[in-house]
Amino acid sequence: MTQRTLVLIKPDAVARGLVGAVLSRYEAKGLRIVAMEHRAIDAEMADAHYAEHTEQPWYPPLRDFAVSGPLVALVLEGDEAIEVVRALNGVTDGRKAAPGTIRGDLSLSNRENLVHASDSEESAARETSLWFPGL
Ligand code: CDP
Ligand code: MG
Repeated sequence: MTQRTLVLIKPDAVARGLVGAVLSRYEAKGLRIVAMEHRAIDAEMADAHYAEHTEQPWYPPLRDFAVSGPLVALVLEGDEAIEVVRALNGVTDGRKAAPGTIRGDLSLSNRENLVHASDSEESAARETSLWFPGL
């Protein structure tokens, strides 16, 4: 089943010069980029994106991180794209993520973990319309 998923290449990845390395993994897998934008976000946008997490004790530092510099937002399309991209990204904590995954190979942090990807069809629809209202 062809799906679309919302991906963020987070500020740590941009600051570290890893945008190309991350994008190339998605492209090499066969996923298609259907929208992409380099932008900085404010706290309001961070709160909207992370609506399910704003009450977490770790949310304030996550928000600070999300607004700390530019990021790259994109929509990827492909067969089972939601699950496929989550698998390419690896588990949340870069210290625990499996080698071979983006986080497992390139992140040593539970917060600065390089990438975001939608976790369900519902979140993909919500996040895609939040980031790319015209899509
Ligand atoms: O991104 P993912 O869906 O794997 O994880 P999440 O549980 O939805 O958390 C969203 C983001 O919050 C993570 O990707 C981390 O950047 C951050 N986070 C954090 O700063 N501290 C935690 N204890 C857990 C997550
Ligand atoms: Mg999540």
